[in-house]
Amino acid sequence: MELHIVCIPGDGIGPEIIREAKKILEKTADVYGHKILFQDILMGGASIDVHGVPLTEEAVADAKAADAVLMGSIGGDTTTSPWYQLPPDRRPEAGLLALRKSLNLFANLRPAVLYEELAGACPLKEEISSAGFDMVIVRELTGGLYFGERKTIEENGIRKAIDTLTYDENEIRRIAVKGFEIARKRRKKVTSVDKANVLDSSRLWRSVTKEVAEDYPDVTLEHMLVDNCAMQLVKNPAQFDVILTENMFGDILSDEASMVTGSIGMLASASLNDSSFGLYEPSHGSAPDIAGKNIANPIATILSAAMMLRYSFNLDKEAQAIENAVKQVLSEGYRTQDIMSQGMTLTSCSEMGDLLAERIR
Ligand code: IPM
Ligand code: MG
Repeated sequence: MELHIVCIPGDGIGPEIIREAKKILEKTADVYGHKILFQDILMGGASIDVHGVPLTEEAVADAKAADAVLMGSIGGDTTTSPWYQLPPDRRPEAGLLALRKSLNLFANLRPAVLYEELAGACPLKEEISSAGFDMVIVRELTGGLYFGERKTIEENGIRKAIDTLTYDENEIRRIAVKGFEIARKRRKKVTSVDKANVLDSSRLWRSVTKEVAEDYPDVTLEHMLVDNCAMQLVKNPAQFDVILTENMFGDILSDEASMVTGSIGMLASASLNDSSFGLYEPSHGSAPDIAGKNIANPIATILSAAMMLRYSFNLDKEAQAIENAVKQVLSEGYRTQDIMSQGMTLTSCSEMGDLLAERIR
């Protein structure tokens, strides 16, 4: 099979982790007889530095023409980087939002899994973590507060900022369908998270989710308020299978969920449209403080590449081969600094890539 993959190395540790992910994809393609055509495009700060904007039309066209997109990370230190002196719509993050919107990537899947080998890194009490957990957050990605009308004005000398949270029923329905479809292949439970005790958009969310649930009698639906969900994630994470939620709540809850795994450097994510096209990226950010030191953990990006093989190319065996290599390397005791513990062997970013490549079979 021929795979045309657009890569966005981006900013911070992005270029280092994408380099390792390419290494693994090349090796996997070799072993399984595929051909990969890689093409790099600029986005975020890297694009600002060259083109003055975080995403060009050419870059969007290149991404659209690809079979799938693999991204490292974008953005810099928001207090010190000159990128954050620019108007908001020309900062690094605006590039990512524009790409999500123009590729119609409305479904963001963020698995949060407690790896057995790394259970010691989980910040929760052992009586909670010993139950293990394996959930996926299904976050709506192209609506809500992120894309509603916004402005900052001045009224009678008082500055005032307005952001709008809008959802129509079709936007809610298509993400709910995704959530239920995913739950059907897992433990068949959807927890729909909203703030229906206050927000109209949440009340609509709740009623559309209930309608969709009627088509999935085999899946259990429960509703949870977002503040309670934030609490339940640290109190009893094992209760969750699929968390279905709107854009902003999903942004916040997915950071929390990944943190409780204790290994955010391990977590992959996918942003999908309604066909098989997707943008795959690690759940973590650009970590500008450790950029260029070859100490970042490339595994989240590598597992995102595995997700890409599975969801966009239907290459299950190949995805499995990558996931197996990750498990093997961990059980052999190799660790990057973020997941290092006593008695393990410390590796750099590129060494981790080499070790994984050797174990693809
Ligand atoms: C994420 C990030 C982005 C978001 C930022 C970089 C705009 O936090 O992917 O979770 O808020 O969606
Ligand atoms: Mg986020």
